[in-house]
Amino acid sequence: MMRPIVVGNWKMNRTHSETESLIMEILSRRRERGEEDAAVDTVIAPPFTSLPLAARLLAGTGIALGAQNCHWEEEGAFTGEISAKMLAEGGCTWVILGHSERREYAAESDQQISRKAQAALFWGLTPILCVGEKRDERESGRAESVVEAQIERCLEDLQPDADRRIVIAYEPVWAIGSGEQPTPEEIHSMHRLIRAEAAGMLGETAGESLPILYGGSVTPFTAPPILAMEDVDGVLVGGASLEADTFLSIVSEAARAAGRT
Ligand code: PGA
Repeated sequence: MMRPIVVGNWKMNRTHSETESLIMEILSRRRERGEEDAAVDTVIAPPFTSLPLAARLLAGTGIALGAQNCHWEEEGAFTGEISAKMLAEGGCTWVILGHSERREYAAESDQQISRKAQAALFWGLTPILCVGEKRDERESGRAESVVEAQIERCLEDLQPDADRRIVIAYEPVWAIGSGEQPTPEEIHSMHRLIRAEAAGMLGETAGESLPILYGGSVTPFTAPPILAMEDVDGVLVGGASLEADTFLSIVSEAARAAGRT
């Protein structure tokens, strides 16, 4: 396993003051636990309004800051949008792109997600590109072809290099917030497929070193068998990232899984 990545996606949760309490709790629990989560790339992605505060609180702690979206343009007449340049200057180093909730509620297309990823890479952010099939697509046996097509369109114009890496998150839409999950074996096989597809597009070396995260109802209980699978390089966590203890337990599981390999 490469250095594991655990990302907490807070979605539209936590005000400014609630962000302060949650981050302070995460930091103090982390100190109490005295654990070796330096072995894990840990990222917190709060709402936009909390980013400046979170950037101050997380500075120097080893926990990185991520955003949940960005625009592909640098600036301009795009009411309500935030650019990758703004995020980078505001202390973010990661950005989640193409989450299924954005695909569904904001009608984001793979092409837009690809442009956003290009902007993120340009401004030195690590994009986490989310892909995943819906329930009916899995039930009708189309999960693989849907994910393959998403990967193809999202990676088409991307050129990661040694200093500019991208991350893929496989998040089956039906597993998000539902308590349901594919089996670890099904996750493993989808991750292998994603790696093969990415290697075909970006080259063998880039494909081999591409971190692929799993997301969808990850908890401290479901994380261990998933993180134990080859080709699973970390997890993207929604609900369970909103409690300091559950989030930190998942980080510890990732550290443990990395220590075993
Ligand atoms: P969940 O969300 O962990 O609450 O299922 C994951 C996600 O949407 O990234």
